[in-house]
Amino acid sequence: MTLLAPPPIPRAAGSLPFLGHAVQLVRDNLGFVASLRSRYGPLVEITLQPGTRTVIVQDPDLIRSMLTDLGPSLDKGRFFEKMGQLLGESVVTAVGQEHVRRRRQLQPAFARPEIARYVDTMRTETETAVDTWTPGRRLDVREAMVKLSLDMLAKTVFSGSLDEATFRRLRDDLSVVMNGVGARVMLPDWAERIPLPLNRRFDAARDAVRATIDQAVAELQNSGLDSGDMLSLLLHATDEETGLPLTGQQIGSEVLTLAVAGTETTASVLSWALYEITRDRGIEEAVLEELDTVLADRPVTFDDLPRLPYLERVVRETLRLHHTGWLVTRRTVTPTRIGDRTVPAGTELAYCQHALHRDPRLFPEPFAFTPDRWLDETQAGAFTPGAFLPFGAGRHKCIGDRFALTELMTALATIVRRTRFEIRPHQRVRPVARATVRPSTLLMSTHPRGRGGDRG
Ligand code: HEM
Repeated sequence: MTLLAPPPIPRAAGSLPFLGHAVQLVRDNLGFVASLRSRYGPLVEITLQPGTRTVIVQDPDLIRSMLTDLGPSLDKGRFFEKMGQLLGESVVTAVGQEHVRRRRQLQPAFARPEIARYVDTMRTETETAVDTWTPGRRLDVREAMVKLSLDMLAKTVFSGSLDEATFRRLRDDLSVVMNGVGARVMLPDWAERIPLPLNRRFDAARDAVRATIDQAVAELQNSGLDSGDMLSLLLHATDEETGLPLTGQQIGSEVLTLAVAGTETTASVLSWALYEITRDRGIEEAVLEELDTVLADRPVTFDDLPRLPYLERVVRETLRLHHTGWLVTRRTVTPTRIGDRTVPAGTELAYCQHALHRDPRLFPEPFAFTPDRWLDETQAGAFTPGAFLPFGAGRHKCIGDRFALTELMTALATIVRRTRFEIRPHQRVRPVARATVRPSTLLMSTHPRGRGGDRG
């Protein structure tokens, strides 16, 4: 009997010389990647950078294995290389011992007692934001949620806050850079070296973001503040190898990493959750009823969060249907076995959480927003390892997962009790993938509910 070698990993049709699959990706990156799941097997090769192989991993078990078992032996790959153009070296781009060291420096700020301490600040920031919304007027919900997320992070983790002008500058520059990073992942590397206005804008915005962050770090550094927050931890941390304090540049990179990793993501999830709650008055009613029962007319506190299981299911379902991750990458450094195939060193491996969480084989009626699917977790696909990965897995699993869940629950509990939304007509709200997946646009009008969360 002869043992047959497994067939080669299939290549997705339509790759062009010099461009790879850039045309399909630029046209509709989410649609293209989602279509691969039904057309090819658990592994499929696409071309992002001609001359290199990118294997999209589509099977939950293989994704889990890529992140956990293989994780320690892999580089972070293309997406993080492009992010590094903005962030420099930081916890999110580092690998191996360097990663362990950087992660250890940040970890204390994300411990449970710290998170418990943050909740009052998160709530106060949310209340302040809600107070600025003019009743009946159009609110750009995505922009409002970006500002709120950035403020919650700045106030809790860095004891700072951003004045309106700095916020706007930072938001505009960050948005140019994040869109640029999204494009640079999809396009061949030569495209970023052409002196196009697009590339010049990217460089200018990246430099401006760095300058804003470095200035904010310097100001906080000069203030001599030691409030036990993240910035103080970083200011007093020493490099384990050299014993020297971290440089302003190193601190700036970590601060910027948290600002990027912790605001676009949270802001998108908050926006989608408000959208879904507004679209389905039954869900809105159930959220309000639970809040009334548990809180009466008290504001939400850390201890209340575990007593809000319905709201938790709303958050979880939002993380499923509207995940912000569209292409998380790793890169092999030696020939690596994945499933029954071996890929050579230098192969990019990537997976798409957005597509994974919408796979009908894992989640029945995947496009329906159904918080109660999580009542029966066997139905929800949660027991298939690797099927639901809101915060990733393995040693690069999100450091801010508990922080994010706490802020999502706190902000939603506060907003929904105080505000009723209406979706403005004539807009097509759909997911778009840049560096992360977010709503294309989300305009709603806001109407105050009155203190006790009345339904009017
Ligand atoms: C809903 C919100 C969020 C989602 C969906 C999310 C998702 C993720 C995912 C999937 C990863 C793993 C990436 C990989 O496999 O390489 C990750 C990593 C990371 N996240 Fe989050 N995240 C969120 C919020 C936050 C917040 C609030 C912070 C910080 C304040 C944060 C900081 C980070 C950092 C620093 C990493 C890199 C960890 C490492 O490589 O060791 N994230 N996040």
